Amino acid sequence: MAKSRYVYTCNQCGYESSKWNGKCPSCGAWNSFEEEEAVKTASSGKASQSSHDLSDNILELEDIGIDSDVRYDTGISELNRVLGGGLVKGSLVLLGGEPGIGKSTILLQICQFLGEEHSILYVSGEESARQIKLRAQRLNVDTENLYILTSTDAESIAETIASSSPDIAIIDSIQTMCIDRISSSPGSITQVRECTNLFMHTAKNQEIPLIIVGHVNKDGAIAGPKVMEHIVDAVLYFEGERHQSYRILRAVKNRFGSTNEIGVFEMRDKGLEEVENPSQMLLAGRPHNVSGTCVACVMEGTRPILAEVQALAAKTSYSAPRRMATGFDFNRLNIIIAVLEKRIGIFLGSLDVYLNIVGGFKVDEPAGDLPVAMTLYSAVMDKNIDEQLIAFGEIGLGGEIRSVSHIAQRLHEAERMGFTTCVIPKQSLSAIDRGSYGLDIVPVSNLKQAFNLIK
Ligand code: TYD
Ligand code: MG
Repeated sequence: MAKSRYVYTCNQCGYESSKWNGKCPSCGAWNSFEEEEAVKTASSGKASQSSHDLSDNILELEDIGIDSDVRYDTGISELNRVLGGGLVKGSLVLLGGEPGIGKSTILLQICQFLGEEHSILYVSGEESARQIKLRAQRLNVDTENLYILTSTDAESIAETIASSSPDIAIIDSIQTMCIDRISSSPGSITQVRECTNLFMHTAKNQEIPLIIVGHVNKDGAIAGPKVMEHIVDAVLYFEGERHQSYRILRAVKNRFGSTNEIGVFEMRDKGLEEVENPSQMLLAGRPHNVSGTCVACVMEGTRPILAEVQALAAKTSYSAPRRMATGFDFNRLNIIIAVLEKRIGIFLGSLDVYLNIVGGFKVDEPAGDLPVAMTLYSAVMDKNIDEQLIAFGEIGLGGEIRSVSHIAQRLHEAERMGFTTCVIPKQSLSAIDRGSYGLDIVPVSNLKQAFNLIK
């Protein structure tokens, strides 16, 4: 039987099927199948006639030489850190994030520094050359080594990169790129995948770093960048709320470094600026002499970051009290409230509870449990927590405080930021040398002991 010329592809996850489905069997999305012309890929089918023995190409690990100078410094140390030390020659990097988060901005900014020694080709399918020039002016980017090309034709772009051989190429964005011989529209799964493959070859053949911008929607669901993740060498995601000025750059995948690192930036009127001391930024403007505030310490990769937790408990005017959590898991908040009610005996049934992590930061680590519980207790009892106190620890359902990782780093950060008291899980005491810190370490094994510290 002749093979159908059409395939149906899920625009959420890239699943392919020979017939249309209302619901994707792979990811469960509804009405996500789109008809596309089947692309004949070179890899399809069995070994073709042109296959040959490659044993001559096999190398011994010892014999493989590597250049010492394979990384380009981007001039932005937060970005270098996330990249694992700089842009690697011949690598394909995906920079993802919601529209308007600052992807084009940071890429234009790195051109200024990279342009001192390298030539850069910035290909934009979204903005006109004039728009880019205006933005560059605003960002004080005036390097002579930056070349702008506005096009959406992926094959021509790949050819242009090969012929003009820049040292670095930037593609903004993959959703606007299109290969003519593929019938589907730009931004569809097939186009995104094939364009990425094409640029992957360009990066490898030309041995240049190639950065691709990919837009992601609010829940990260747009398939484009997700199908790209497998292909590219490194995936960096820009996170942050658009109405908050700070942005976090996170590595989700990195073939040339750790994925634990984050970079923190602030969006100013002159572009993105590095935030070298995120704790200080997040703690700025803390209120004095009020109840319902405590400082938490969260590990972001290898970096500890201090953030303020605030809670408000007010008498409810509804039949069921309201619970709200910003920057903290809602279900986790409910668990902590249940533990407070059952193990400590304070009842919040007639109180609305609002929990907020200041600055739009997210506390998504178990270590955030203890400061949240202490803040709730402080808010409900209207007792102030010492402003110089910081706490971390996981709360068990029995009301016990359980140990968390990276105690030493957290203590160092607390000490550096001038805190004098640190409440830690008792179990974690064995992991540290208590005398080597310039702060008062208070080990607690259950919630009662922690609450006794709130006078
Ligand atoms: P942009 O880099 O265009 O986002 P993306 O490429 O990820 O879609 O960022 C645009 C946003 O950044 C826009 O809302 C305006 C803001 N912005 C500043 O606040 N300051 C600046 O200097 C620049 C260039 C942009
Ligand atoms: Mg952009």
